[in-house]
Amino acid sequence: MLSKLRSRLLVASLATSLSWTAANCAVAQPPATADSSTPTQATTTQEQAADKTVDIGVSLEKLQSLADAAHQKFKDDTDGKNADYIPELAKIPSELFGVCIMTVNGDVITVGDVDYSFAIESVSKPFTLSMLLRDDGYEAVLEKIGVEPTGLPFNSVAAVELHKSAVNPLVNAGAMASVSMVDADSPKARFEKILSYFEEFADDDLTVIDSIYESEAATNWHNKGIAWLLDSYGKLYADPDEVCDVYTKQCSIGVTARQLATMGATLANGGQNPKSGKRLLPTDQVPKLLAIMLSCGFYDGSGQWACEAGLPSKTGVGGGIVSVVPGRFAIVGFSPPLDEHGNSVRAQNAIKYIAEELELSLFNGRN
Ligand code: DON
Repeated sequence: MLSKLRSRLLVASLATSLSWTAANCAVAQPPATADSSTPTQATTTQEQAADKTVDIGVSLEKLQSLADAAHQKFKDDTDGKNADYIPELAKIPSELFGVCIMTVNGDVITVGDVDYSFAIESVSKPFTLSMLLRDDGYEAVLEKIGVEPTGLPFNSVAAVELHKSAVNPLVNAGAMASVSMVDADSPKARFEKILSYFEEFADDDLTVIDSIYESEAATNWHNKGIAWLLDSYGKLYADPDEVCDVYTKQCSIGVTARQLATMGATLANGGQNPKSGKRLLPTDQVPKLLAIMLSCGFYDGSGQWACEAGLPSKTGVGGGIVSVVPGRFAIVGFSPPLDEHGNSVRAQNAIKYIAEELELSLFNGRN
């Protein structure tokens, strides 16, 4: 109880040290009721009845109206296309589109398809990294994987060849190195450890989407090649085929935008889940994780994303993106069609729109 109070005070003092514009500075209000007349069936719910001590610098009504506006603005955008190198992903309805925001107080803003379970794919990577930061610490990640952006696509073999190492934990090579560092006696135990840690982040049960796993496992030769290449440089820390399989299973875990928003809000809340109150990552490791997400989360699009959104984020070819506004909330966008870097077009646009409207970039001097 005391530690919960202490962490709430810490986040509260972070939040009050900020000076937002008057328009965005309303104290968080009780949630608005859903307007059933809106075509997107927007809803605002309060999933945590706990004490609400953190001023997130914007009212829930304002957040809801921005989420609604973002959804309305981009729902008919037909740019991009579903990933098809994993055949099953090509079959997911392209029109799906959801936006979900969860605050550090546990308040939830939703619009659109926020309860559709999609493959987490690369959005899983920062959460496995979180386990390593908790168990092994930053120095071990730095030494065994690295924290530098590659400037290259997520599945680049050239980056591994150039550095004789994985380079960072958010590209496929580094994510497999991360999986290999998870302390477990068997591949089964390794996966179960990852899954149950993710469940703590989501504060919900999660399961593998079997059809996606089977589709990816049948076609993941490129990742197997990366795993063996890393192994040849002494930079993979368990059997390459087993690691690649556990990584593939990790990527096939199904999450909804609502569950992913809880996972992101845990990072926004300094490593403590706002719904369960459980601490999942020591506070001092959170800035390291967020820094890696900012510099590497969009692969070869990370610089542009830092300029245009300015938020630590992670994308996945399942169409999900999570962005973290430290001390305040997480924004999740989900929609399957991707741009040329493998990042959801509608989710990027929606998050960027909300970030611009609220001046959320970490570099604008107000955060
Ligand atoms: O390893 C892969 O190719 C997929 N399981 C994940 C790739 C991914 O999500 C890239 N992110 N945008």
